[in-house]
Amino acid sequence: ADDYSYDYEYLFKIVLIGDSSVGKTNLLSRFTRDEFNPDSRATIGVEFATRTVEIDGKRVKAQIWDTAGQERYRAITAAYYRGAVGALVVYDISNSDSYESVSRWLTEMKDHADANIVIALVGNKSDLEHLRAVPTEEAKNFAAENNLVFTEASALNAENVELTFHQLIKSIY
Ligand code: GTP
Repeated sequence: ADDYSYDYEYLFKIVLIGDSSVGKTNLLSRFTRDEFNPDSRATIGVEFATRTVEIDGKRVKAQIWDTAGQERYRAITAAYYRGAVGALVVYDISNSDSYESVSRWLTEMKDHADANIVIALVGNKSDLEHLRAVPTEEAKNFAAENNLVFTEASALNAENVELTFHQLIKSIY
């Protein structure tokens, strides 16, 4: 019974962004509840979930916010980014349009988020290697040029999901 919600030393607000259906909601549910939903619907508005992780002996509570990739379902942008110290910009490795959108998401963030926000680029759906449309090297180079942490992950088979969130949280910390 020592798992009270105030039992942490740091609280980090992290936001998920990226095109619709790249898998933001499932990355969140995989990381916070170890769940995957094959029929998940488009997010409407904003939701968040939390998980506390230990970094260098300190308990860090990650409060991770998820919103719709679809413009018409999005909530007010400024409020979404307010106070965020980290962001995961997600694309789908089997969908080149979702990768092309990354720069647009980075611009939106530049306009609304704190200048010091730590950003991670995540190529989700790495289980769909047979449908790959975005070469790993291309995304990796883009990330390096733009100072972003980079991983490919799969919410479906859980590959690199822990690594993705832990790397981001560590970079913030
Ligand atoms: P919006 O809420 O519209 O912005 O979408 P989203 O980015 O939250 O995507 P969501 O998590 O709802 O996933 C969209 C679809 O992709 C669903 O059918 C998921 O089951 C599927 N999906 C999510 N992650 C993965 C993954 O890692 N691999 C595969 N193969 N499918 C995935």
